[in-house]
Amino acid sequence: MSEWKNKTALITGASYGIGESFAQRLASSGTNLILTARSRERLEELASRLRNQYSVQVTVIGADLAATTGAREIFEETERQNLPVDLLINNAGFGALGEFASLSLPRQLEMIQVNVSALVELTHLYLQPMKARRAGAILNVASTASFQAIPYFAVYAATKAFVLSFSEALAEECDPFGIRVLALCPGSTSTNFQEVAGSQRINAPRFRQTAEQVVDVGLAALAQGRSHVISGVANKVQTQLERAIPRKLVTKMAGKIFKPQPN
Ligand SMILES: NC(=O)c1ccc[n+]([C@@H]2O[C@H](COP(=O)([O-])OP(=O)(O)OC[C@H]3O[C@@H](n4cnc5c(N)ncnc54)[C@H](OP(=O)(O)O)[C@@H]3O)[C@@H](O)[C@H]2O)c1
Repeated sequence: MSEWKNKTALITGASYGIGESFAQRLASSGTNLILTARSRERLEELASRLRNQYSVQVTVIGADLAATTGAREIFEETERQNLPVDLLINNAGFGALGEFASLSLPRQLEMIQVNVSALVELTHLYLQPMKARRAGAILNVASTASFQAIPYFAVYAATKAFVLSFSEALAEECDPFGIRVLALCPGSTSTNFQEVAGSQRINAPRFRQTAEQVVDVGLAALAQGRSHVISGVANKVQTQLERAIPRKLVTKMAGKIFKPQPN
């Protein structure tokens, strides 16, 4: 991880969970940070803690990636402050459990905006200067949900399938420029995600990984130049097994697990 010492990483969704853990891990190895999310106050507290603990430079940019202007605002602010981004971590994201037709349409479109459109826009914006420098890396947080359709989590799983496919394609395109792209695919992880998605019931906390475990897997895979990595042995085995089973059956099984139970 020392390759990021004295470099700058921009982390979206840095206020909680996996993003906050990325901030902690990278700061502890001397990486300067740009932290962004909507919860500005929380980011300021994290920034001040990391500055004191690790003597790194930390910049906070409050932005809502559900707004179509959010990604550009972040980019323009880093340009204005003359902050180069060596490592872009597109981590912000959320899910919503429920039957597609019954869930709020604006909420699901917001999910596509945050999980997909903002990620694509930030990647496009920061790739230009990385290409000019012929250096840099992009780590996109996908999910084990990237590998199969999930009834009652339909839009979320589709956004994460996009992130995986997009990242793997981009890894190949960017290789000649010395830029690495990785899709990090965590399984269930102990963060606010389940509460936000309304999916607490699906995985008992004892089967969840910690955000720190996920971050370590992601940073190690990035260092190895991989284009995707699944975090956790059980998640890897599950993903492999699913490949041997007809897709329709995998979808049916996922639907049984994710179908919301009547209260
Ligand atoms: N936890 C899991 O089980 C799991 C499994 C696989 C993949 N993932 C993925 O991991 C990533 C991080 O999630 P997490 O588990 O750490 O969940 P989390 O604890 O809920 O954190 C989500 C982060 O995304 C930010 N965010 C959400 N909506 C946003 C918006 N409109 N604009 C800007 N930032 C926004 C949140 O910040 P604010 O609320 O302050 O804006 C927060 O920092 C997501 O992409 C998620 O899909 C999670």
